[in-house]
Amino acid sequence: MHKTKILDGNEFIYKAPDTKILSDGSFTWKAPSNIALVKYWGKHGMQLPKNTSISFTLDACHTITTLEFRNHTKVGSISHKNELNFNVYVDDQRQDDFKPKIAAFLTRIKNYVPFLDDYDLNIKTHNSFPHSSGIASSASGMAALALCIMSMEKELNPSMSDEFFYQKASWLARLGSGSAARSIKGSIVVWGEHPGLKGSSDLFGVEFPHEVHTNFHNFHDTILLVDKGQKQVSSTVGHNLMHEHPFAGQRFDQANENISKLSAILQNGDLKAFVALVESEALTLHAMMMTSNPYFILMKPNTLSIINKIWDFRKKTGATICFTLDAGANVHVLYPEKEKKSIHKFITTELLQFCQNRHYISDRIGAGAKNLTK
Ligand code: DP6
Repeated sequence: MHKTKILDGNEFIYKAPDTKILSDGSFTWKAPSNIALVKYWGKHGMQLPKNTSISFTLDACHTITTLEFRNHTKVGSISHKNELNFNVYVDDQRQDDFKPKIAAFLTRIKNYVPFLDDYDLNIKTHNSFPHSSGIASSASGMAALALCIMSMEKELNPSMSDEFFYQKASWLARLGSGSAARSIKGSIVVWGEHPGLKGSSDLFGVEFPHEVHTNFHNFHDTILLVDKGQKQVSSTVGHNLMHEHPFAGQRFDQANENISKLSAILQNGDLKAFVALVESEALTLHAMMMTSNPYFILMKPNTLSIINKIWDFRKKTGATICFTLDAGANVHVLYPEKEKKSIHKFITTELLQFCQNRHYISDRIGAGAKNLTK
């Protein structure tokens, strides 16, 4: 099998003969959500990150997508060649509201997967978490769709290596949503080139390239649903505000330094250092939002109540518990497997009161996407 070194992404332009047509069929992939430990916040060019980010892959939060394809030439006289023809179904209901976002994604990736034009597509997705949970489905959703498209390409070009398959899947997913690049393969994923992490790239996510200490095996993430509403400011708008941000340069340098520190921590198992770094990253992300022009706040009063409770509990008990946040008010509570009993009790008795309808999701570090095609 040939190995192609990926330099600028042109290597991902589809090259197999386009005379080959797939018979009607479908592919199904399950792709996970992920939670960043060192955050991606600021991008440039075509969805390229301003700094390296690193995430835990989740397990319970995922999207399952089936991509059905039917070749035009077989279905009658109308040929849609060079046109995207697709429908989107969420939980078996046709959802035309989702079409513009998917159309923008498919148009953006068209050069790399031109064969899509030859088919009528049905994209059928299910999220494991409710749409109204305030948890973004873009990472897992874009990743699952990108993987289905790559399964089509693999069928057209069976000599493709697994490495190429996953790198291009992550590349495509990234063009849909940056953090989706980290929802393809592996338990701990790095996106963005970093001198300390061999193989890392701005173009796609790769598995953390070092052995991970057992302290981080089976790590838990209990997601506390503080606010299930639509965010007032989207991530894309927030990323763009980093262009003129007075602290942007320092933030990108800090994130890259934090990657080096976290890389060492993940290998040596220093849980105290992990807690300090992860919480600092979460608060820095929100500090960037609060110091943007225009400024905005995504945390809610209950987000802060939870953070204070976690700090009190940690001070009192010495437990290894910390929080992180994504671009919203929900709180991800992180803790190791060996402390799960006492921490779960603390969460139930002290933290659920701050969640909307006491709703939360018990998640943990997962293993990456899975092909569910029958
Ligand atoms: C705060 O990946 O949602 O969750 O690339 O515009 O789709 P787009 O943004 P998105 O940004 C995620 C931001 C974050 C941090 C992270 O996941 O690293």
